[in-house]
Amino acid sequence: MTPSMTVDVHVTAEARRAALEADVRTGLSRHPKSLPPTWFYDDRGSELFDEITRLPEYYLTRAERSILDAHAADIAAASGADTLVELGSGTSEKTRLLLDAMSASGRLRTFVPFDVSEETLRRAAEDITGAYGIEVRAVVGDFHRHLSELPVDGHKMVAFLGSTIGNLAPGERRRFLDDLGATMTPEDHLLLGTDLVKDGGRLLAAYDDSAGVTAEFNRNVLSVLNHELGAHFQPEDFDHVALWDEEARWIEMRLRSRLPQIVEIEDLAMQVGFEAGEDLRTEISAKFTPEQVARELRGGGFTVDASWMDPARDFLLSLARPDP
Ligand code: SAH
Ligand code: AVI
Repeated sequence: MTPSMTVDVHVTAEARRAALEADVRTGLSRHPKSLPPTWFYDDRGSELFDEITRLPEYYLTRAERSILDAHAADIAAASGADTLVELGSGTSEKTRLLLDAMSASGRLRTFVPFDVSEETLRRAAEDITGAYGIEVRAVVGDFHRHLSELPVDGHKMVAFLGSTIGNLAPGERRRFLDDLGATMTPEDHLLLGTDLVKDGGRLLAAYDDSAGVTAEFNRNVLSVLNHELGAHFQPEDFDHVALWDEEARWIEMRLRSRLPQIVEIEDLAMQVGFEAGEDLRTEISAKFTPEQVARELRGGGFTVDASWMDPARDFLLSLARPDP
């Protein structure tokens, strides 16, 4: 096959802006205040996330990579796929282990990275087109809205790595699986990465690292609102807070106002009041048990064919098939 690269943009600048405006209006008017984590990932946010993946406390990326190191060939063989779709692909760095395994088996034809962050996606797609000489069909899209735009041809494995599914609320996870299943045939597979429940101390350290990179990542969402909506947030007026909610089994990231303040958002003609100590929730990061992953997949119309853990049992990769 001749190497080629296309980029389909399903999130136009206007649609992105309309979605941001709606999320900010709703999220900052409600109590408690919240914003969806999707808005972290401008260029700077993607760079900071990349830095997070190399932090000593952030075990997730290393654990998932170690599973792929050991089992990518088994995964490629079990899926039988010739097309790898990756949702929330970011830099697609770990994904190269899957591409290598699919390529070694002689089956790899097409890679479809899908992400909302256009610049990072374009860079990753160019690098992979150059390195693998395959067809790369990048899709700029929002996985809450544009899964139906995924290419339908090919025998697919859809990878959703990094435990990004944990950043979705339970109802959103169910909707996501329903929407995804509708784009797949019973021969296709979903490869799902999920972080597992573990000691609260380790979890908190992973989301409140000693170098302060996660704090900067968290505050970056305020800079996104400043640049894109003419907001007047002073990021240093907010403390980074990570909490482990044992009952809900998720980490919450919040930004806590250090003082009483009123922040103007010029483009929305909106003024947002914060009391001293008031929180804005910016992310949940759910942690799972293997049984819960299988149950949620079953509820969303998938059956687990095989699963793999790293030796420390920190992280789980599940290969699942849509029910016919
Ligand atoms: N898969 C990579 C990156 C995870 S970071 C890894 O495992 O390391 C989460 C990625 O999801 C980012 O690249 C971000 O831009 C993307 N993302 C977040 N919300 C999204 C959405 N609603 N639709 C599509 N991509 C999204
Ligand atoms: C992308 N996602 C799975 C990361 C996580 O661990 O929930 C985002 C992140 N938030 C803080 N650190 C990393």
